[in-house]
Amino acid sequence: LIEELKGTDGGRLVVAVASTVHYFGIRLLAEFCRRYPKVKVSFKVTNRKGLLQQLEDNEADVVLMGQPPEDQDLQYEAFLENPLVLIAPAGHPLAGKRGIPLSELQDENFIMREQGSGTRSAAERYFGERGVHLTASMEMNTNGAIKQGVEEGLGLAIVSIHTLERELESGRVVVLDVEHFPIRRQWFIVHRSGKRLSAVAREFADFVRSEARSFVRTEVIEVALGKASAAPGP
Ligand code: PGA
Repeated sequence: LIEELKGTDGGRLVVAVASTVHYFGIRLLAEFCRRYPKVKVSFKVTNRKGLLQQLEDNEADVVLMGQPPEDQDLQYEAFLENPLVLIAPAGHPLAGKRGIPLSELQDENFIMREQGSGTRSAAERYFGERGVHLTASMEMNTNGAIKQGVEEGLGLAIVSIHTLERELESGRVVVLDVEHFPIRRQWFIVHRSGKRLSAVAREFADFVRSEARSFVRTEVIEVALGKASAAPGP
């Protein structure tokens, strides 16, 4: 199979990913394409609602997204943790504070993702279950815009830690140490039930299952989460 994929016609692969996945997803794709340079790839980046639509319309071979719904006929498997964290600009009064109670966040402005985003619905569900109302002062439909908005002081935000590598390294935004955080989610590899995956799609799915973890900048993430959940110092 591998020899076949490396041959003259590598086939065509359509992958659709959640907007939060593409940060490490592109690194993953780059390595896959180095191994199979003949494969022609279409890589679509959209939000949860868009991904479910693509599955419904049978437009993608493989989808990488948050928890799929139970009521759509899909086959799926978790392949990586996806912690959602609360971020603030460096120098924010809550930065460096330990164990911030959720109730304290009610006084803050939040930049939220658009309706249809999985990150948004997970955050809303999480706060709703805990009886806390967040004020969404602004809506933005990309993680990049949200991060910049946070840096500029437009509000706080809840994002997947995987969107943050560069900002954490540069110290422009900080992960707040909030009680009950991070919100624990996972990423899933998904396709329609009964879909006959092509050789290249099967190879890509195996590659994601076995190697996705190694394309995540775990050192940066662990430092951020470690800082965010460390016990108060002496
Ligand atoms: P989103 O997807 O880009 O729609 O927020 C990510 C997720 O579902 O966790």
